[in-house]
Amino acid sequence: MIEVRNLAVAFDGTKILRNMTLSLPKGKLTGIVGPNGAGKSTLLTAMGRLTPIHSGEILFDGFPIGDIATASLAKRLSIFRQSTPITPRLSVRDLISFGRYPHTQGRPTGADLLIIEQAIARLDLSEFADRYLDTLSGGQRQRALLGMVLAQTGDVVLLDEPLNNLDITHARTVMRVAREEIEMGRTVAIVLHDLSIAANHCDHVIALKDGQLHSSGKPEYVLTNEGLSDLYNTKVDVAEIEGRRVILTV
Ligand SMILES: Nc1ncnc2c1ncn2[C@@H]1O[C@H](COP(=O)(O)OP(=O)(O)O)[C@@H](O)[C@H]1O
Ligand SMILES: [Mg+2]
Repeated sequence: MIEVRNLAVAFDGTKILRNMTLSLPKGKLTGIVGPNGAGKSTLLTAMGRLTPIHSGEILFDGFPIGDIATASLAKRLSIFRQSTPITPRLSVRDLISFGRYPHTQGRPTGADLLIIEQAIARLDLSEFADRYLDTLSGGQRQRALLGMVLAQTGDVVLLDEPLNNLDITHARTVMRVAREEIEMGRTVAIVLHDLSIAANHCDHVIALKDGQLHSSGKPEYVLTNEGLSDLYNTKVDVAEIEGRRVILTV
């Protein structure tokens, strides 16, 4: 669904991403892993056309992403970023309604209102829907921002560390929601630090290191003792408990 070919991204003349060739397979949940500073967020924002590229190309459903009209891309690609500034005096429902804006231009139909209410319910936000964002906990606010991204209903959904700040119940909620998006035919990429979650929930994994592709493929091929120890430069063990793979870092 998204093809990245020989991508380079530079900031102030320094290449942050180099020689990057990879793809987000259509209709699959792709986990993106790698150490801090590896380039995960830069890759996601380049794929979301929020960061200019230095060289190479990014194809969205076969077309150069730069050629897609902005209004059209906003309907087809949704991105959750690691730090999104928020307007405090805004209710959860109003924030989530903004996600619908590319489709409604401010005039939502009944179908749009339904999508907004579904996003609220899917992220377990019903009891907070009318609360202002500055009265919520960090995790609740994060779920509200995720709700805004869901309401955008892009064919491609890019999520940068959506589980940060979330308790285990809500981390599960977000992974369930990601799987529901796949079942609706969407393509989802999710940056994760919890490697056990990547091993058990993702169909495909991309590992980045030092601004380059380290490895990619099925989780069982990428998330191995040797692969992960090399990726993070620290000893990592993979165990199996009741049929689930657990990545041990202690
Ligand atoms: N706007 C920027 N200007 C300069 N350097 C940046 C900028 N954004 C990110 N970087 C650098 O690019 C590298 C990759 O960053 P990032 O993509 O955020 O990594 P990750 O998300 O994997 O932790 C880091 O070394 C970071 O310091
Ligand atoms: Mg990041």
